[in-house]
Amino acid sequence: MITKPTTSQSKIIVALDYPDFSSAKKLVDLLSPDLCKLKIGKELFTSVGPQAVEYVVNKGFDVFLDLKFHDIPSTVAKACQAASRLGVWMMNIHALGGQEMMQAAREALDSSSSRPYLIAVTILTSHNEESLNTIGLTGSVITHVEAMARLALASGLDGVVCSTQECAGLRREMAEDFLLVTPGIRPVQSDLNDQKRVMTPIEAIKHGSDYLVIGRPITAAESPVEILTKINAELNS
Ligand code: C5P
Repeated sequence: MITKPTTSQSKIIVALDYPDFSSAKKLVDLLSPDLCKLKIGKELFTSVGPQAVEYVVNKGFDVFLDLKFHDIPSTVAKACQAASRLGVWMMNIHALGGQEMMQAAREALDSSSSRPYLIAVTILTSHNEESLNTIGLTGSVITHVEAMARLALASGLDGVVCSTQECAGLRREMAEDFLLVTPGIRPVQSDLNDQKRVMTPIEAIKHGSDYLVIGRPITAAESPVEILTKINAELNS
């Protein structure tokens, strides 16, 4: 079973966080697959549907479908197959769905000739120790993050989404080819927006990140292409 070939060498995944197709299309039409990959999440997918994915896949972009599936194993397995049929390069599910759910998802993807990378969300970065406690998970956040990452690996997944703060610890523990995908990236001098703990692209890569999810610093920039070109050059140097 091979994974879907990666088109772009860029480590940057631009988050297409838009409420409608025409706003997303405006940015996509400025970009090209050699500059970046693209992430489609719940907002755009819920308002536009598969049309958004098909549009960018047909333009040759590597697409990360960020829908974070979490349901009973058979439902998640079928949803993963449907996502795979859209031709996405990467997709994700919640590790808290458990090993049986993750394995079912992975096995469901094995039936396609080239499957997307399947990664897990461990613990949402919006949680802290106190909020985890209220849902019955005691102990530190990082303990649960690491336990979920191990479970994802044991279930045959290709990697996890993690915060830049969790990255170095996970990189030390997990195999080199276990993918770490990190949001919370801010190029030097850019606005933090609502992100609290951020790293620059270079710092995140040094901490062991494989792919950087970047939204507003690129989508809200006057020249998204210029910023992408600059970050790509920085990462390649
Ligand atoms: O605009 P910004 O760079 O903050 O966007 C980051 C993207 O990564 C958004 O699509 C956001 O939903 C996603 N994300 C995040 N933090 C997480 C998981 C996903 O910011 N822990």
